[in-house]
Amino acid sequence: MTLETTRPETLAIHGGSWRADPVTGAVAVPIYQSTSFQFQDTAHADRLFGLEEIGHIYTRVSNPTQEALETRLAALEGGAAALVVASGQAASAFSVLNLAEAGDNVVVSTDLYGGTWNLFAATLKRFGIEARFVDPADPDNFRRASDERTKAYYAETLPNPKLQVFPIREVAGIGRRLGIPLIVDNTAAPLTVRPLEHGAAVVVYSATKYLGGHGTTIGGAIIDGGNFPWEEHAARFPQLNAPDPSYQNRIWVELARPLGPIAYVLRIRTTLLRDIGAALTPFAAFQFIQGLETLPLRIAQHNRNAIKVADFLDGHPKVGRVIFPGLQSGVAGRWATSYLQGGFGALVGFELKDGGRPAAASSTRSACSTTSPISGTSARWRSIPRPRPTPSSPPMSSSRRA
Ligand SMILES: Cc1ncc(COP(=O)(O)O)c(C=O)c1O
Repeated sequence: MTLETTRPETLAIHGGSWRADPVTGAVAVPIYQSTSFQFQDTAHADRLFGLEEIGHIYTRVSNPTQEALETRLAALEGGAAALVVASGQAASAFSVLNLAEAGDNVVVSTDLYGGTWNLFAATLKRFGIEARFVDPADPDNFRRASDERTKAYYAETLPNPKLQVFPIREVAGIGRRLGIPLIVDNTAAPLTVRPLEHGAAVVVYSATKYLGGHGTTIGGAIIDGGNFPWEEHAARFPQLNAPDPSYQNRIWVELARPLGPIAYVLRIRTTLLRDIGAALTPFAAFQFIQGLETLPLRIAQHNRNAIKVADFLDGHPKVGRVIFPGLQSGVAGRWATSYLQGGFGALVGFELKDGGRPAAASSTRSACSTTSPISGTSARWRSIPRPRPTPSSPPMSSSRRA
């Protein structure tokens, strides 16, 4: 069944392939705590391994509880397919390793979470993959740093602590002209920004934060937009366009054709996840399914809370500077109002006037420390643009899966 709705409140509960357990009729997604799945016969096994038929073989690669979460995330994000993994770090690493190998480079925003910075600057460097860090304040920096060995652009939508929105459309546009996909870590802005609508090719998440919301479970997700023309850039992406010795010399863009535009994420599942591991456990997938159900309600409230926190800090005599997208001016302010829908995100930073150390406040329990929202509206605050309501977008199929 395909849900003909774009409302996140509905998709967070009913989006994706799950309707009910085919045997028991159970409506809530069960925890399929099984490592392995039975083949009907050897011919069935052959079809599953050859990807002629899609089905579950082994939970390191896929599992029905993971699948319910994956198809729901794809529906919420407007993507073609998703893959869940054991952490946000695994999602970031796989998203790049799927395209880049020794001798290649990736152009990376300087505004990054420290763990991701280290992944690029130290670990991927040891793999022979060069990260070229550029300041996203000038989107053209991405073009200037690119060459024929550039395999991806990588950035965060709303990087903490700078909290300056990344110019997704501008950089994705540069990349598309050169044949380079933009990968966006949208951990800090689910629902508030849908990067695929602005031209990003891939979205990654640390599900550990807002997607779960409960702070009980580590996990990550990769969403394939299905919107990047890999075949038009065959020389740059042999991983997807040339025979892959790690999978019976099959060609991923051809293998994926009957399944949809999901060659990118299908390859991650069937090669990187198979060979390196980092699978999300069925129990963790179940936890994320529970958390996701309240995501639209929580995000709306976080966004409202953050405005109140920023407002309070902005009027506080001991605060020298408030770092918040809703208080930015110039090009950063323009990007904040153009990309952030229904709020300015849940993160607020501030610096004390007396040279005290910068502090971070947040309206979410699972992100940072919590500051209680205090009402009040300063004169300066009233002058900033108010968030717009979430726009409607074309209906999306929720029945596709990787
Ligand atoms: C923006 C961002 N991306 C990725 C990660 C890594 O996620 P995880 O801790 O789930 O591995 C984090 C973790 O704090 C993060 O804040």
